[in-house]
Amino acid sequence: MSKRVYIFDTTLRDGEQSPGISLNVHEKVEIAAQLERLGVDAIEAGFPVASKGDFEAVKAIAQRIRKPVIVGLARAVRGDIERAWEALKYAARPRIHTFIATSDIHMEYKLKMKPEEVLEQVRDAVSYAKSFCEDVEFSAEDGSRTRPDFLFKVIETAIEAGATTINIPDTVGYATPQEFGGLIASIIENVKGIGDVILSVHCHNDLGMAVSNSLAAIENGATQVECTVNGLGERAGNAALEEIVMALKTRKGFYGCDTGIETRELYRTSRLVSHLTGVHIQPNKAIIGANAFAHESGIHQHGMLSNRETYEIMTPESVGFRQSEMVLGKHSGRHAFEEKLRDMGYTHMDTEKINQAFTKFKDLADKKKFVTDRDIEALLSEKVIEVPTIYEIDYFHISSGNSTIATSTVRLKKDDMLIQEAACGDGPIDATFKAIERAAGLKINLKDFYLRAVTSGTDALGEVTVKISRNGDIYVGRGISTDVIEASAKGYVNAINKMLYETEME
Ligand code: KIV
Ligand code: ZN
Repeated sequence: MSKRVYIFDTTLRDGEQSPGISLNVHEKVEIAAQLERLGVDAIEAGFPVASKGDFEAVKAIAQRIRKPVIVGLARAVRGDIERAWEALKYAARPRIHTFIATSDIHMEYKLKMKPEEVLEQVRDAVSYAKSFCEDVEFSAEDGSRTRPDFLFKVIETAIEAGATTINIPDTVGYATPQEFGGLIASIIENVKGIGDVILSVHCHNDLGMAVSNSLAAIENGATQVECTVNGLGERAGNAALEEIVMALKTRKGFYGCDTGIETRELYRTSRLVSHLTGVHIQPNKAIIGANAFAHESGIHQHGMLSNRETYEIMTPESVGFRQSEMVLGKHSGRHAFEEKLRDMGYTHMDTEKINQAFTKFKDLADKKKFVTDRDIEALLSEKVIEVPTIYEIDYFHISSGNSTIATSTVRLKKDDMLIQEAACGDGPIDATFKAIERAAGLKINLKDFYLRAVTSGTDALGEVTVKISRNGDIYVGRGISTDVIEASAKGYVNAINKMLYETEME
C-alpha cells in the first residue's frame, strides 16, 4: 500500500520572505484559494506577529479558505503564540507552528541561551500553544546542524508537551541527501513517541539540494514536506513544491507515495505566483519552465513522433501545460471564447469576469491575427487582483528616434479630472514614466522593469512587470498590450495605483 505524504505549502510565509517580494492581503488570499484548488494539505499563511499586514493576511485566509489546514508561525514565546492564535482562531482547521533554534551555533550566538533553557522554552511554548489549539507544529530551527542527541531530546520534549507535528528544517541548506535521510531515520529510531506524530522536513536550497534532501527524508520515513511554489524563499529559496510532487508521482514505483495534489493545477498555480510576486520563472525550470516540455533536437523530435515516451517521462497535460492550441481570431464569438476558457480550465470565473475578459479578447483580436492560449492566459492575469483604479492612462504620445531626444506626453484620468504632462527621457519608456510621475505629482523609486513577448511574431503581446518601492515596501504592477510603450505605461500606473491604495489602507 502506498504511503500518503502531506504537502505543507509555505509560499505565503517563507516564500514571501524572499527579497523584493511583497504581497498584499488580496493577493495572498487569491494565492491561498489557488493552493486550495491545487489540493495542498496545509497552507502556512504568514507570521502574524511580524507585521499588521501579515496578521491581516493570516486572518483573512483563516476566514475564507476552508479545506486545508491553515498555519500561522510563532517564535517559541508566548506573545507570538497569542498573536498567531488571534489570527488563526477563525480557521476551520487551525495550526500553530512554533519554532526555536537548536544548533550550538544558533543557541550560543543568536539566542545566547544554554541548551537546558532552550529545552524549557520548547516545553513552555508547545504547551502554551496547545492551550489554544489542538494542532501544534514544532520546528527545531537549524535542525540539520543540531547535535543529534540534543535534537532527540528537543523533539521528545515537544512531543511530551503536545506537539502533533515535528518539523526538521535544513535552515541553511547545508545537508546532503544521504546525511539528511540518515538523520530522519535516526530520529525515527531514537525518539520516543515519534510514531504518533507527523514527521516533517523543511529544506532550503543553498546548495541546490532542497528537493533531493526532501525526497531522501521521505524515503527514510518523513510524512510531511514543507515547500513553496516555484521554489520561492529566502536566499536560494525553499524546496520546489512542483518538483517534489511530480518526482513522487512520476517515480511512484520507487517512492511508493501519494500526495493529494491535483497536478493539472501546477502550471496555473506557478503562473499565478509568478505574476503576483513579479518573480519570473527561468525557461529551463523543471516541471513548469517554458521549455520543460520543448524538444528541439532533430533526434529527440524523431523519437517523440514514434513514441512520446522515448523522451517524455511525464505528459505536459499532467502538470496543466496545454499542448493543442486551437487559436481564436476576430471572427470568434462569445460562445467559442467561453468554450476556450472552460477548456483551459478557467471554470471558476463569474459572468462579470468573463464579460471583461471577452472585451479584452475582442480588442486584442482586432490588433492580432491569431489569439493563442498564451495570449488569453496573459489577458486574464493582467489584473488578477483588482485594486481601485485611481489613475488611468487616457492618452499618450511619444516621439523617439536614434537622433532625437525621446519625449512623451501623457494624459492621466483621475475620477473626472484629466491631467496632462510631458517629459524627456533616455528613451521612450523613461520619458513616459517621467511624464506619468509629473502628472500624478509623485516621485517614484523604480526597482525593476521586465518586458517579455507572450508569444512569437512581431504582433505579439508585450507583457511588462514593474516593481516600485516606497518606505521599503514593494508594489508590483503589470501591463499588457501589443504596443510595448503602452504595456509599460499601464504596468507603471498599475503599480502606482497599488501603492496609493495600500498606503491609504494603512
Ligand atoms: O528555515 C527554517 O528553519 C524555517 C523555520 C521557521 C521552520 O523557516
Ligand atoms: Zn525556512
